[in-house]
Amino acid sequence: MAAPVVDAAYLREIDKVRRELRALIASKNCAPIMLRLAWHDAGTYDVNTKTGGPNGSIRHEEEYKHGANAGLKIAIDLCETVKVKHPRITYADLYQLAGVVAVEVTGGPTIDFVPGRRDSSVSPREGRLPDAKQGAAHLRDIFYRMGLSDKDIVALSGGHTLGRAHPERSGFDGPWTREPLKFDNSYFVELIQADNEGLLKLPTDKALMEDSEFARYVKLYAKDEDAFFKDYAESHKKLSELGFTPRASSGSKSDATTSVVLAQSAVGVAVAAAVVILSYFYEVSRRK
Ligand code: HEM
Repeated sequence: MAAPVVDAAYLREIDKVRRELRALIASKNCAPIMLRLAWHDAGTYDVNTKTGGPNGSIRHEEEYKHGANAGLKIAIDLCETVKVKHPRITYADLYQLAGVVAVEVTGGPTIDFVPGRRDSSVSPREGRLPDAKQGAAHLRDIFYRMGLSDKDIVALSGGHTLGRAHPERSGFDGPWTREPLKFDNSYFVELIQADNEGLLKLPTDKALMEDSEFARYVKLYAKDEDAFFKDYAESHKKLSELGFTPRASSGSKSDATTSVVLAQSAVGVAVAAAVVILSYFYEVSRRK
């Protein structure tokens, strides 16, 4: 499908959608599943074949029926209530914006969002998302295929600061942290502790402590929440833009705002110059 034209009207819609998502997520307490939807739409990217990625294809039954996506139809349906009111916004933008808003409204870092993703109807084959029962080598296979790094793997795993596992969806049970609706660095604080009565650690979570390169970041993020927030915001932006190159005409709202301000300044300077010139000629003609 064609990329959307990101003009001033599209940016205004994005603003409205952002506000609606804030309200929806607050009223339904659905930040965790919205974040998981954004991640699962994006996390199918293959940097070599340039297929998959944040393109909205997860909305199709063929893809949301993949085992790894169990439960995500709930988030797809919630997003649809916003999409019907703002049909111009692509599903790809909508799902990624929902992920960004989910992090923000639960107290996490602000993540730069650039709109303009195109939708795709082509779903990747099942098996591109990570398998929670495996270890560090598997995590690297999956995330390197997306074009992401060790640091991205650890920072993004911090997304498990939100939400919980549901036995009927994944076979796992329970939250990773004591406050699963608050985005903070507690996932890492819990991960470095041996005793976490009632909290979940997936084999892939434990792998982050077992691998020395990963563990370096885990320890840093457990003691320094600012470092986690900074890296998380960068890695999340990368994840949300896999395979997406904003077109020259598209840009963030701040770019659009800057253009308007510059245009207004130019008009201001022109008017001031005209006033000076007219005053000069008036003075000259008065003295004759
Ligand atoms: C590193 C590899 C990862 C694995 C193996 C993994 C696996 C899982 C599993 C098994 C669940 C439980 C699903 C359920 O039963 O409802 C889950 C939930 C979740 N995951 Fe991950 N995940 C990974 C990475 C990520 C990343 C990168 C993010 C976001 C940046 C993320 C965000 C979430 C969230 C927010 C939930 C909770 C959903 C809810 O409460 O409904 N995960 N993940």
